Amino acid sequence: MTYNSLEELKNDCLSCKKCALCETRRHVVVGVGSETAEVMFIGEGPGENEDLQGEPFVGLAGQLLDKMLYAVDLDRKKNIYIANIVKCRPPYNRDPKPGEQEMCIDWLRAQVRLIKPKIIVCLGRIAACRIIREDFKITREHGQWLEKGGILMTAMFHPAAVLRDPGKKPAAFEDFLRLREKIKEVCEKTYD
Ligand code: URA
Repeated sequence: MTYNSLEELKNDCLSCKKCALCETRRHVVVGVGSETAEVMFIGEGPGENEDLQGEPFVGLAGQLLDKMLYAVDLDRKKNIYIANIVKCRPPYNRDPKPGEQEMCIDWLRAQVRLIKPKIIVCLGRIAACRIIREDFKITREHGQWLEKGGILMTAMFHPAAVLRDPGKKPAAFEDFLRLREKIKEVCEKTYD
């Protein structure tokens, strides 16, 4: 399906019944941010708070993400876009199953086609394995850059993983600083 705007995409996505997650969701969490963002962040799927509020990364992990974004002059409402691999909450916050990811991925593809980001940042292993490479090792390969389909990509620790293991904080922060340098290199309006 080709959409002309995120609004149009959102309307269809809100009534999606392609997989069983639609039966237990309270909200479909489509995404948040600028339709013309040059940088897109992709997480794995909504948790409880996101399911309740209909916006990605609004729980504790989201608060940490916002702090890291703020530190490098990024703002979820202004100069980036945030989405997830699956748009509905997997019960008990389990990992989204491969079949659920497969059913949902066309929404993300449509978002990427519309937004046309220059940079995609995968947050955590699940997103990195779905988007960058099936056997991506987040501990070893976070912060590395590669190009795929004309888009620069990297993966970072999931903010929930940083909350669980504060020892990851310096490395996570370093990845954000490198992201800022990459944005300055390849983006035109993110830091306008
Ligand atoms: N974790 C994710 O991967 N995505 C969210 O939206 C919230 C928590």
